[in-house]
Amino acid sequence: MKNILILNGPNLNLLGKREPEIYGNTDFEHYIDYLNRWTDTQSKKEEFHLHYFQSNVEGILIDKLHEVGFSYHGIIFNAGAYAHTSIALADAIRAIQTPVIEVHISNVHARESFRHQSYLSAYCEGIITGFGLNSYKLALRYFMGL
Ligand code: DQA
Repeated sequence: MKNILILNGPNLNLLGKREPEIYGNTDFEHYIDYLNRWTDTQSKKEEFHLHYFQSNVEGILIDKLHEVGFSYHGIIFNAGAYAHTSIALADAIRAIQTPVIEVHISNVHARESFRHQSYLSAYCEGIITGFGLNSYKLALRYFMGL
């Protein structure tokens, strides 16, 4: 069994309500249900278990990275605005062994210039940005080898 974590940072608990013209109308609990069902149908040769955690607090996100980062198969991380500000989260990604994919729902490079910089990207396996909620599924496909 391989465990994969989807980790969401600040303000992503408001998905569905928050700036729907940028982030869409779907709330994330709903989307996670869909992704869980999809993961189960795809887990044929190998079993994958999808976990989800969200926090608005930087230190709690760091604690979660430490908790799973030596045993999980992969981490799909949307750090929200912390991607653009947090050296502490970048250090946490460097410190752990589990590979991290940085995801963003919107295309951060097509938005304000302060969103073009991410402290996390250099320490991540890769970056997926701009595909709406599908950004998470694309990252999941990578970790599942699909
Ligand atoms: C975001 C992009 C960030 O710039 C922003 O601060 C977010 C969401 C995205 O998923 O598009 O909170 O990470």
